[in-house]
Amino acid sequence: MSDLFSKFDPLIELRETLLKSGVTDPFNLVMERVESPTVAICNGRRTILLGTYNYMGMTFDPDVVAAGKQALDEFGSGTTGSRVLNGTYVGHKAVEEALKDFYAMDHAMVFSTGYQANLGIISTIAGKDDYIILDIDSHASIYDGCALGNAQIVPFRHNDIEALDKRLKRMPPEAGKLVILEGVYSMLGDIAPLKEMVAVSKEAGAMVLVDEAHSMGFIGEHGRGVAEAQGVLDDVDFIIGTFSKSVGTVGGFCVSNHPKFEILRLVCRPYVFTASLPPSVVATAATSIRKLMDSADKRAHLWENSKRLHAGLRQLGFTLGTDEPQSAIIAVIMPDLEKGAAMWEALLNEGLYVNLARPPATPAGMTLLRCSLCALHSEEQVGEILGMFAAAGRATGCIS
Ligand SMILES: Cc1ncc(COP(=O)(O)O)c(C=O)c1O
Repeated sequence: MSDLFSKFDPLIELRETLLKSGVTDPFNLVMERVESPTVAICNGRRTILLGTYNYMGMTFDPDVVAAGKQALDEFGSGTTGSRVLNGTYVGHKAVEEALKDFYAMDHAMVFSTGYQANLGIISTIAGKDDYIILDIDSHASIYDGCALGNAQIVPFRHNDIEALDKRLKRMPPEAGKLVILEGVYSMLGDIAPLKEMVAVSKEAGAMVLVDEAHSMGFIGEHGRGVAEAQGVLDDVDFIIGTFSKSVGTVGGFCVSNHPKFEILRLVCRPYVFTASLPPSVVATAATSIRKLMDSADKRAHLWENSKRLHAGLRQLGFTLGTDEPQSAIIAVIMPDLEKGAAMWEALLNEGLYVNLARPPATPAGMTLLRCSLCALHSEEQVGEILGMFAAAGRATGCIS
């Protein structure tokens, strides 16, 4: 019998070598207690959280928590069914109404995760003779959505407008085309030139889907994302998003103005053949989304945090993923996995949690320490974070 697990041997070896060096497993951290969106207890000590996607700090919002508790009392712990059978409660309708109001769009469809939203929408709308043209650094859920469908997949170089234009011009003019972009790319925290990319896509007769997972709530005047900030929201056909980041719970969605959008509820398999979100989750999401509509002060504070951390890390001598802060994600580039893991652990020992990211999640084989800021990090906490980076950086030889 051949062992189907032998294909994982290189990864098992890499992991064992890393752990043998004595470092804490960076992919197995346990949060023993979570005190707030910015502080948890890990390994028995107070730890500042700089590696969550809790951008707008909604997880402990009293109204959000109260809405979840009330729904749990009134509707029970779960729906035990698909949206198209017994899994649509008033709460699912209410969160879709909240999304329509948030984006000022005609249709909203809620999935059980953002991953499933990409899986479902992409595989359903792009069929056998259609083309999907996507940024090569797209999220795994976008690639998996492509793999689940039957369209021809054409990647182009990250954020390269000319490369996108060239690919589009080479395609049969009458073919169905879906261009897939992200507002913020979550590894380096850079944003897409959506204005130009949407323009060349529309000129070629393509439909456009933008995943705004990492920009919802924060970027754009109303927090609608990079498409809003760059003035092209009306030209985007589908926005994909998640409740697991700024919204502060779990779930995914697609919003659109397409007049035939509602038919997707009957033909989209990752929507039909899975259980719907629990009532408490949709209640927290709806409350959070409505509060995010009125969060301009928090957005402004988050930008301040992002600028402060970016400038401070640069001053300390770290190499960062972007020249200027473009989002709430600031990536610190590490020379290799060993140094990255040592620095990650040194930060944890200082009382700071960040994400250690490595290929295949990262582009160009990079090892990154990914910092994601929260609107509830105080100015003092950002100062503390910089002090921890200075100490850990010197202890590991990452900076002098
Ligand atoms: C760009 C992007 N799209 C989709 C997702 C999936 O979101 P969810 O956590 O809701 O499955 C993520 C999650 O990290 C993401 O970064």
